[in-house]
Amino acid sequence: MSNDMPSRVKIVEVGPRDGLQNEPQIVPAEIKIGLIDRLGDAGLTAIEATSFVSPKWVPRMADSAQVMAGIQRKHGVSYAVLVPNMKGLDGAIAAGASEIAVFAAATETFSQKNTNCTIAESFERFEPVVRTALEAGLTVRGYISVALACPYEGDVDPHAVVPVARRLYEMGCYEVSLGDTTGAGTPVRTQRLVEALARHVPANRLAGHFHDTFGQALANILASMQMGVAVFDSSISGLGGCPYSPGATGNVATEDVVYMLDGMGIETGVKMQQLLVASEYICDFLQRPTMSRAGRALLARRQRLAQPAA
Ligand code: HMG
Ligand code: MG
Repeated sequence: MSNDMPSRVKIVEVGPRDGLQNEPQIVPAEIKIGLIDRLGDAGLTAIEATSFVSPKWVPRMADSAQVMAGIQRKHGVSYAVLVPNMKGLDGAIAAGASEIAVFAAATETFSQKNTNCTIAESFERFEPVVRTALEAGLTVRGYISVALACPYEGDVDPHAVVPVARRLYEMGCYEVSLGDTTGAGTPVRTQRLVEALARHVPANRLAGHFHDTFGQALANILASMQMGVAVFDSSISGLGGCPYSPGATGNVATEDVVYMLDGMGIETGVKMQQLLVASEYICDFLQRPTMSRAGRALLARRQRLAQPAA
């Protein structure tokens, strides 16, 4: 292992947003609120709560103001919201958000499909959004979707990602999260991406956002940690996907990331037992088993231990 391996990792929980934006079932605001509160109880300090996007484009996030009004904000927890334009920023500020995330893409086709504009136009939109947000005292995170592979254009060259990352960082995003939206990325390609980007954006300002469609996410996290990245996005129970990335499944499950990092002696501040409470809460509502392998194994073990000895 490289000496660059972090002793502490920050987990950004994106389940309430990335997970539930793509959910076929309607999830009422009070369930989303219950989930976010339980995630806070588990010790997560960064929770992406919802998004202020067009409800015509993503109907599942139409209740963002209600969700933000209902959560019990814990001291020390950042409840970020996704924002695509000034209208979204106005909604976020009115809802009392203290952090927003803007999202760009590494390919033109994905940019059009996800935000109905070119990459250059997306930056024209972000300029006033980021400036106004920073002036209002909010922090701003940036995403790059399809940083490794695009559902429409195939594998993405790291050099195409560099200008997008630089621009987000120079604009004032304190962190740039690299979205493997399709989950097709593999560890060596992930390391090549981080290597190319780290010449322009410090590795400790990069985050990994790996969807687990091809089962590569934990390996990509490990590969990124070896390159000095110490922030990873994950989703409780592995919920989610992107409505504009057909076939992509959820982010890597938070339980799986915490299990791996606990086992490596890397601190996250997240308590597994409480995480399982949040996972059971949302899976009970959705009436389906968790997608987390570690979560399933731990729940099965708990059930075995609860059975009276024969
Ligand atoms: P557009 O249709 O070009 O925008 O969409 P528009 O300005 O013409 O507005 C269309 C309608 O939406 C108007 O309503 C606006 O008022 C309304 P109408 O006048 O027709 O009644 N509208 C809004 N309403 C509420 N909040 C807003 C807002 N903006 C416009 N903020 C737009 C352009 C960017 C708005 C649209 O494409 C959009 O909302 N896209 C968001 C798509 C999205 O949320 N995708 C999923 C999140 S990204 C993701 O999952 C990837 C990530 O996880 C990383 C990874 O995995 O790669 C982050
Ligand atoms: Mg995503």
